[in-house]
Amino acid sequence: MIDRRQLLGQSALLAAAAAISGGAQAAAPARPDWFAGVGDLTQDVAPQALARLHGRAPADLAGTLYRNGPARFRQGGTAVGHWFDGDGMIRAWKIADGKAELRARFVDTVKRRTDTAAGAMVQPGFKTQARPGALVGSADDTNAANTSVIVAGGQLLALWEAGSAYALDADTLATKGPVTFRPDLAGMPFLAHPRIEPDGRIWNLGMGGKMAFVWRLSKAGVLEAGQSIPLPMASYAHDFTATARHLVIVLQPWIKERNVLPFAHSLAWRPELGTKVLVIDKDDLSKRRVFELPPLFFFHLGDAWEETDGTICFDGCFDNDPGFASDGASALIEGRYLRTERPALRMVSLRPDGRASLDDAGITAEFPRSDPSLAGLRRTRTVHVGGYGAGRPFARSIGTWDWQTGKDDAHDFGSRQLVEEFVPVGRWLIGTTLNLDAGATELHVMDSRRVADGPVVSWRSNVAMPLSFHGNWLAA
Ligand SMILES: [Fe+2]
Repeated sequence: MIDRRQLLGQSALLAAAAAISGGAQAAAPARPDWFAGVGDLTQDVAPQALARLHGRAPADLAGTLYRNGPARFRQGGTAVGHWFDGDGMIRAWKIADGKAELRARFVDTVKRRTDTAAGAMVQPGFKTQARPGALVGSADDTNAANTSVIVAGGQLLALWEAGSAYALDADTLATKGPVTFRPDLAGMPFLAHPRIEPDGRIWNLGMGGKMAFVWRLSKAGVLEAGQSIPLPMASYAHDFTATARHLVIVLQPWIKERNVLPFAHSLAWRPELGTKVLVIDKDDLSKRRVFELPPLFFFHLGDAWEETDGTICFDGCFDNDPGFASDGASALIEGRYLRTERPALRMVSLRPDGRASLDDAGITAEFPRSDPSLAGLRRTRTVHVGGYGAGRPFARSIGTWDWQTGKDDAHDFGSRQLVEEFVPVGRWLIGTTLNLDAGATELHVMDSRRVADGPVVSWRSNVAMPLSFHGNWLAA
């Protein structure tokens, strides 16, 4: 049975929140240079042609890289309390005929409208306290639609994690509104990291304490099936993974132990519980196995696959604790860097005899991506960002880790570039950086087999956009 009350409990909690605090004011000046990565845009970015800096676009490359990330954190002397709580902005980087264009628009959410009307960041979030003027009737009223974007059924879906997907027009980026896949599922959480099979079928989760809702959508974005399942622990989960046959849900010991706002204050780090990995048969969600791992914290996992002996493998970027999620990402908004764990690229193996093991690549990495045509299938490479420097919070390099050779083919953009996630598109890797010297965001194409050679082509926009989180490519 679908326990909507449990999964939507956060909505009622938010609605019932009587204690609305004044919250922290925006931080004082004296900003580090990387602060541009969490800067503010106050309006949409009008369509513009990009200036080519060097190189030549591959002749066969035509399409749009859609990306999403928070782009407004402050107004009226107030600021959100966490990197994850800024207003979502969709960036469309279009490549065609050797040229590139950009346009970007904020997602027109209830949250953004409410904040704008109040002239302050009043709506609560992951770690933002509600302020006077907050209006919260459901979790979607706090939905920042700021984490990722996928294309389904010819429209964009801007994704958050604790509420609905927001639909947008793929050409104009105009917001259509929150998506209701079935009337009784209105407002059901929909994670920002769906797993998409090579044929386009979409699997996703909605997390709600010790329950998860399993979404199965067609390539066209139509609901095929939905079912709630019990979980061994009420873990915070930003991502999950999947093989061709199984869903793999990693349950870290960052546990929802109470119902308080903001949401991050509901969570407690319980390393003594270890990490549990729930493996579920896609064809029968009641068929499940649970594996045990040491206590780990993570945001992002790579696509999983199964070896011929039944071993399930997947990689991820793992910390030893949630320090960055709970504190480090809040300090960023104030221009402060807190030294926290650096995520390490590791491979998890779940063996048929029930044992689980971890192997270290020996590099720090985030935003793992792999060839979407191999999703759920055996692969050897992981695209990632890295090169995290001392005293700086953001990545400066892009690399492809080869699990067979144990080598990283990487390009260092240098200390004056903030590097965002790169997306594999056939032979190419496409991604963006914020160039601090130019004060502008740039678009790059790399040869995935020769990453160390640097971009084969780079373009520059005329705007410095705060860093985005995730995106996907839509071929023309
Ligand atoms: Fe993410």
